[in-house]
Amino acid sequence: MGESIYGLKRTHMCAELTVNDVGKTVTVMGWCHKSRNLGGLIFVTLRDRTGIIQVVFDNTVNSELFAKAEGIRGEYVLAVVGEVVKRSPEAINPKLPTGEIEIIAKELRILSTAESPPIYIEEDSDVNEATRLKYRYLDLRRPDMQRNLMLRHRVAKIARDYFDEHGFIEIETPMLTKSTPEGARDYLVPSRVHPGKFFALPQSPQLFKQLLMVAGFDRYMQIVKCFRDEDLRADRQPEFTQIDLEMSFVNVEDVLTINEGFIKRVFKEAINVDLEIPFIRMPYKEAMERFGTDKPDIRFGFELVNLSDLVENCGFKVFSDAVKNGGSVRAINAKGCGNKFSRKEIDALGEFVKTYGAKGMAWIVVGENEHKSPITKFFTEDEIKAVLTRMRAEPGDLICFIADKNEVVFDSLGQLRVEIARKLGLLDNKEFKFLWVTEFPLLEYDEEEKRYVAKHHPFTSPMDEDVELLDTDPLKVRAKAYDIVLNGTEIGGGSIRIHSQELQSKMFKLLGFSEKDAWDRFGFLLEAFKYGTPPHGGMAFGLDRLVMLMAGRNSIRDVIAFPKVQNSSCLMTNAPDEVEPKQLEELKIRVDLQN
Ligand code: AMO
Ligand code: AMP
Repeated sequence: MGESIYGLKRTHMCAELTVNDVGKTVTVMGWCHKSRNLGGLIFVTLRDRTGIIQVVFDNTVNSELFAKAEGIRGEYVLAVVGEVVKRSPEAINPKLPTGEIEIIAKELRILSTAESPPIYIEEDSDVNEATRLKYRYLDLRRPDMQRNLMLRHRVAKIARDYFDEHGFIEIETPMLTKSTPEGARDYLVPSRVHPGKFFALPQSPQLFKQLLMVAGFDRYMQIVKCFRDEDLRADRQPEFTQIDLEMSFVNVEDVLTINEGFIKRVFKEAINVDLEIPFIRMPYKEAMERFGTDKPDIRFGFELVNLSDLVENCGFKVFSDAVKNGGSVRAINAKGCGNKFSRKEIDALGEFVKTYGAKGMAWIVVGENEHKSPITKFFTEDEIKAVLTRMRAEPGDLICFIADKNEVVFDSLGQLRVEIARKLGLLDNKEFKFLWVTEFPLLEYDEEEKRYVAKHHPFTSPMDEDVELLDTDPLKVRAKAYDIVLNGTEIGGGSIRIHSQELQSKMFKLLGFSEKDAWDRFGFLLEAFKYGTPPHGGMAFGLDRLVMLMAGRNSIRDVIAFPKVQNSSCLMTNAPDEVEPKQLEELKIRVDLQN
């Protein structure tokens, strides 16, 4: 394996060795994980990306070699030649895959010394993230980080194989390009040749992949970096990777079928999880009504129930007014939590929903005969009975109510159901629950900008049966758009596109672009649509999010080799950074931080 290093050739990776290799003389290379000197014996655990093997230096066998081994410190890079032997029964380490064997060293080369590292190279060691990211190359030596990145490699490889087998062609699209709106700010790159002009880094390859359909490639895929200048969260980075694809002559169902086939395949091949397909398809409206969100976590229940009709004339003004003002009253039944949660915990839930705009949270702890609640006094017995019946309440349940505008009710109750699940430990459930959310609204109204904005992006096709509403009631128009959701995280989304120039122009107009604006920004697409455009559609997976969930992690930073931190900087390289005055001169850019 490989070229010789100082006259030695590596024969095995550390953790490739098994009891079948007993008796062989092998050469391994790697880092000193730990070294223990027990007097006449030194035990060195040697680590490479496959894992760890124990090496023994015995003073009675070779004192010269032993003396050399005494100089080994943590993270030294070593080459060891030795014989694989079985460990004696009492020395077997069942926690190590190579725990039944060890190498009796015959030769040692110290290839590199190392200062003592600022972080422990240990699985799940509890180091603060800033230090981990500053010394990322050391952090990446940790076995769990190595596993994450190797998993990421496998997922990308299986994606290429799967889509290749299904007739997709990988085509690269430009990084220096023109703005493609996906709802975030652009990263701009100044042009030296065209002073005062800027490239935008792509938020996605959206327009290029559509042009590839016009060009007749039929099926395209690309594993591609995308750039979005937006506020970072645990599942968002300013540069991230999509598995991006587009298909011609397809409808929604065709796109979903191909892609759930991919998910099934990648879960089986990469982490040996069997998934049942097809996944549930749930229209957006149903997802909102039942879960209060367009990315429901369906590993647990606590679904929202609409009580508006039962309480619109009740004596509790908070409830009746909400309904009369066009809002609603909805509740969830936290099964059995009436017995589990203290009054203090229930009050804390009331504070929790306020962070999502709710004015309060009314509740009933259901009893056999009497209930505990701050609101039952406002209701007749029949009203309470009707509410509890609809909630399928049983003694011991906790019913939580929110009355407000629908938007606030959905958001706060949707978050509350997840919060309750978290308190009950239900988010630790390792199951993978997928669903497709379909029939998204085409448009939203942006209160700040006082105009319609595309919910997905401006190239998304309305549903055929709703096209007429574009003129009369645009917010009612549903789109041929879909997201794939895993355990409450959106891992991908896409749509069938508009492929007629007239409809695309009409869409731009609805979004408040003047004819000139639209042609200035997207003229190349509108022009292309004149020359024979196949109906087409596609989607993009967030590769980082997919791998994060497959690896059981809570942050995409754990599956990205060199991620950025909250304020979009890199702690290791210190990017973004100032540049040479000469560079700015060439770009004809003057920096004036006062304004
Ligand atoms: P969308 O904007 O939904 O669609 O992006 C697709 C998927 O990319 C992931 N994603 C991100 N991951 C990490 N950090 C981010 N900042 C980030 N932003 C998005 C999500 C998301 O579901 N062009 C369309 C796709 C199409 O219509 O075909 C698009 O980009 O998992
Ligand atoms: P009050 O009579 O104002 O003390 O309210 C009685 C209960 O109703 C308290 O538990 C409040 O938290 C709750 N409450 C207040 N506003 C709302 C609301 N918009 N939706 C649901 N419950 C509310």
